[in-house]
Amino acid sequence: MSKPTLSVTDNRTGKSYEIPIQDGTIKAMDLRAIKTDAEDFGLMTYDPAFQNTSSCRSAITFIDGDRGILNYRGYAIDELAEHSNFLEVAYLLLEGELPNKAKNEQWAHDIKMHTYVHENMRRFINGFNYDAHPMNMLVSTVAALSSFYPDAKESGDRAQRQPEIIRLIAKMPTIAAWCYRHRRGLPLVYPDNELSYAGNFLAMVKQISEPKYQPHPILEKALDVLFILHADHEQNCSTSTMRTVGSSKADVYTAVSAACAALSGPLHGGANEEVLRMLTEIGHVKNVPAFIKEVKEGRGRLMGFGHRVYKSYDPRAKTIKKLADQVFEVTGRNPLTDIALELERIALQDDYFVSRKLYPNVDFYSGLIYDSMQFPTDMFTVLFAIPRTAGWLAQWNELADDKDQKISRPRQVYTGHERREYQVMHKRG
Ligand code: CMC
Repeated sequence: MSKPTLSVTDNRTGKSYEIPIQDGTIKAMDLRAIKTDAEDFGLMTYDPAFQNTSSCRSAITFIDGDRGILNYRGYAIDELAEHSNFLEVAYLLLEGELPNKAKNEQWAHDIKMHTYVHENMRRFINGFNYDAHPMNMLVSTVAALSSFYPDAKESGDRAQRQPEIIRLIAKMPTIAAWCYRHRRGLPLVYPDNELSYAGNFLAMVKQISEPKYQPHPILEKALDVLFILHADHEQNCSTSTMRTVGSSKADVYTAVSAACAALSGPLHGGANEEVLRMLTEIGHVKNVPAFIKEVKEGRGRLMGFGHRVYKSYDPRAKTIKKLADQVFEVTGRNPLTDIALELERIALQDDYFVSRKLYPNVDFYSGLIYDSMQFPTDMFTVLFAIPRTAGWLAQWNELADDKDQKISRPRQVYTGHERREYQVMHKRG
């Protein structure tokens, strides 16, 4: 007879325990009852990098890594990319439903009303060195925003959280564009609230002397689709960081800044930059086999390949590959595309990659699009952070409403010394 429980026998004591199974999980705290004697702390799990541990219950994003499925609130990512726009998707992630016409207009209006940042932010950004990495500038500038909104510390109820959510989604493109302009030594451009979310960002990045910048509609649409594809991805490294920092009740700007910092790493959002560097270094299709050989010998990784969760083709990579063709019709074909296609072709039939289920991920082709749109390589991760802010905020909201949650505080397996006597300096050898 089937029962939703797990029977465990502790061979140290011969005792048996019955542990409830819910949603394919057992509660780690139920293991604490498994003890050798009354003094024993109780059993824990050891799971470095959380490879098999659910840290929360979430209704936002669903991934089936084996079948290559990604849904936001039940909607397939490719349908959202085809029919929706980023602001609608941000609303969906945060509110759980797509907005009707009236709600959509109100939401877009609210975002547009908050795109400007305090003038002191200009001075703050001006303080960075001319060659500061835009991602470092973004991390610090978002953290600095918290000092302008002291009320953000009250993250208790939904109504109090909403203004911060609107501010962050609205201001991220402005801060991101200003980091770019500062890096290039260009005057900062103020938001144009008549443009779309992606269009306004492009204007703040690209405008030079035109009185009114009009983004190319295909490039504007492509950027919007990229924003949709990057908006959330359940409990990845940066989202877990957002939740961890948020769990201490730190203000939301500080938590988003920490999430940006986690995103910047080359194994996470920083991979899109690394892909472009890798393609540039390979330099020619004829060098691809030698590069693959090096990777297989453990000398470096094929950046933009592999994923902790996806063990088949990343559905976002499929959409991005198609999107690249549309962008190239406007910008001309990116010469690095042939190298990327050859890498993919060889890797998808090489036993090293096939046996480890390594497929292209979201970062493999996105960099080619950004590069073709003439974004410098070190802006790529910033372009990821803008839309991911919506996902981080949706997860933060969910965390705040979740009665099961407490401050994040993992356990450890202590492997150091037992208590020992303090040694005075002259006896230390
Ligand atoms: N190139 C070559 N070998 C790889 C790669 C790769 N890109 N990824 C994994 N492997 C190998 C790895 O060496 C290991 O082999 P072995 O079993 O012989 O030791 C095996 O595959 C499993 O790798 P892992 O590091 O245990 O896997 P993980 O789940 O801890 O890491 C990953 C996932 C994404 C960090 C990793 O695949 C990687 O470093 N990929 C390249 C960086 C990248 O593209 N990151 C972007 C991820 S998607 C967007 C995002 O999350 O921001």
